[in-house]
Amino acid sequence: MLEDLARIRASFEKELREAATLDALEHVRVAYLGRKGALASVFDTLKTLPPEERKHAGEEANQLRRDIETSLSEKRTLLELTERESALKKERLDVTRPGVRQERGHAHPLTKITREIIAIFSAMGFAVVEGPEAETEYYNFDALNIPPDHPARDMWDTFWISDPKGEDKTQNAKRKTGERLLLRTHTSPVQIRYMEAHQPPIQIIAPGRVYRYEATDASHDIQFMQIEGLMADKNISVANFKAVIQTFLSQLFETKIEMRLRPSYFPFTEPSFEVDISCTYCRGTGCSICKQSGWLELMGAGMVHPHVFKAAGWNPKTSKMIGDHFAGFAFGVGIDRLAMMKYKIPDIRLFRSGDLRFLKQF
Ligand code: DAH
Repeated sequence: MLEDLARIRASFEKELREAATLDALEHVRVAYLGRKGALASVFDTLKTLPPEERKHAGEEANQLRRDIETSLSEKRTLLELTERESALKKERLDVTRPGVRQERGHAHPLTKITREIIAIFSAMGFAVVEGPEAETEYYNFDALNIPPDHPARDMWDTFWISDPKGEDKTQNAKRKTGERLLLRTHTSPVQIRYMEAHQPPIQIIAPGRVYRYEATDASHDIQFMQIEGLMADKNISVANFKAVIQTFLSQLFETKIEMRLRPSYFPFTEPSFEVDISCTYCRGTGCSICKQSGWLELMGAGMVHPHVFKAAGWNPKTSKMIGDHFAGFAFGVGIDRLAMMKYKIPDIRLFRSGDLRFLKQF
């Protein structure tokens, strides 16, 4: 019996030494202390021994069990520690590793230049107002002195919310002439909306998106941005217009800009003119962009037509303000075009291309 115990002790110690993981250690525990383990059969045999032999062997067997239990628990503590250490080693946090760079976005170039334009006009006392992009035919055309069937309507081919002349049975087609909706072709309707709701003197700019139904190329898109300007008061003249625009251009382009007015035609102004500026690419010496003329066409403008004041409800006969010497100037300028001139962008379609190589340059 005692020999059996010695053998069990020896083989236990060998297996214990060899157990390198907690799993292996558990196998050893089951093999020696388990219900069908080596010690269980020792205790079974003990029962069969004569009493004088049983006492001594029993003490030895109990001693062996205690030793095994102690050794197992010591080894378990050791293995737990090393396993935790190696797990920690694997999960090590290297605080010196470079981080993942967070890319920061920025405003779109058109948003940026619109903010610059607004800042310049605000400093000159202009209020910023807005109007709807889905506009009625009345505000986009009629109120601006462009009656239905007038050839001037051809200057602005537009997107109707639904076809006004076709077989369209939608709500919009059933609206009365003038009330039909379209995507505004210019920001000029904001002039009417503002004058209807306010009394002179007024001094506003109206930035926003406009739409044209046309083939796209490097300088035309079906959607672009405009800024409308309107100043109306006693004694407003073309001289005021020139001073305001000259100040605006010099501040936006951060250099003195030459400008000239050319006679032109718009139904809502009389007289009307086209404003040209000295070519920002060649500084007026002549290049392919300005077709060797030294000038670039910038915006339409003019003195507000009396019919436009009337359409907005400003009646010279009933209004105290609107009488002798009352006048106003208005202008409309493409923001995309200004951005193209300022940043020398060759193609208007780049603005809405979503091309990050382009956008990241601003
Ligand atoms: N609305 C015109 C256009 O989009 C631009 C324009 C011309 C606006 C003359 C004005 C103006 O206010 O007086 O072509």
